[in-house]
Amino acid sequence: MRPTWVDIDLAAVEHNISVVKELVAPAAVCVVVKADAYGHGDVPVAEAALTAGAEWLAVALISEAARLREAGINAPILLLSEPPVASAPAILQWDLTPTVYSRPLIEALAALATTPVPVHLKIDTGMHRLGAAPSDALDLARLIDDSPGLDLQAVWTHFAVAEQDADFTGVQLSLFEETVNAIRSAGIRIPMAHAANTAGAIAFPAARFDMIRMGIGTYGLQPARSVGADLGLRPVMKVVSEVTFVHEHPAGSRPSYGRTRPLAADGRVASIPIGYADGMPRLLSSVGEVLIGGKRYPLAGTVTMDYIVVDVGSDPVEVGDEVVLIGRQGAAEIPVEEWANHTGTINYEIVCQIGPRMPRRYRP
Ligand SMILES: Cc1ncc(COP(=O)(O)O)c(C=O)c1O
Repeated sequence: MRPTWVDIDLAAVEHNISVVKELVAPAAVCVVVKADAYGHGDVPVAEAALTAGAEWLAVALISEAARLREAGINAPILLLSEPPVASAPAILQWDLTPTVYSRPLIEALAALATTPVPVHLKIDTGMHRLGAAPSDALDLARLIDDSPGLDLQAVWTHFAVAEQDADFTGVQLSLFEETVNAIRSAGIRIPMAHAANTAGAIAFPAARFDMIRMGIGTYGLQPARSVGADLGLRPVMKVVSEVTFVHEHPAGSRPSYGRTRPLAADGRVASIPIGYADGMPRLLSSVGEVLIGGKRYPLAGTVTMDYIVVDVGSDPVEVGDEVVLIGRQGAAEIPVEEWANHTGTINYEIVCQIGPRMPRRYRP
């Protein structure tokens, strides 16, 4: 088997959940495990999160929720966006908690339900992606409240810039509170309100309400450099491979596709079996580094689909040596953010793109 894999530290997941759970108490913690738990493995992460005291899980797709149910997970699962109306039977079949914000799905669920289905009404307070306009919220809440087949369990919203803009987040928060109050003032019971993602939960205590929805923090990553640095979150993902081939070339040789760069000196080049098909961005070709024996080495040329080449100079690097692409090796570390910074993206995208070709090894 190809010696390239992803180490997933489930003890770090539990640690991260415990830290945030304590911070936000008495709010409940809903762990966001969509997109295969941001590339970390949905079922093992969900199980670890529940062990650490998370009360809820959240996903984007019904198929993601079904995977959790098929694995025997019974915790409540929130669908973070409104599924198509045709999915109403699947919501009941898998005992899911749908987000709703438009009449057709609300009516379809109400017509199908035999016992009250809990629904969470989403309000768009400024993210402008999904959700009911605040001016429609009361009518929709009333529609749900008047439907014997439905139970308005929560009203919620989502922040657009909680990691970077306190003013706009404050505006969203006020609008959300006004909307919730208006619904409650009309005599409609709302057992839960929720608004905060990881950044909101950490930076805005007033946004914690009854539950927070924690994605990136679960994985030990900060939503931004300025948020959560003092919490001691532990990165969960480590990307590991091995040297599978070492070859010698004179100065001026140009390894890999495109022959983009000459070797500065006579030396050795190590080939490592990981490439862009595994989620290692091709944009790292000229700037990426790897760890071997606790030391940084630069890529020697373009990232290819299945391999990278690394300039190890005259060092005694051998076939079989461990290579760390993301994570810690000895005293050295390549954080996820290093790849993100080099490639003009965010840590979220890097971990989500670590592909299915690489097996996950779960450490308890
Ligand atoms: C609606 C919603 N809530 C919460 C989250 C979790 O956000 P974060 O990963 O920043 O904690 C997401 C993630 O995209 C989301 O879409």
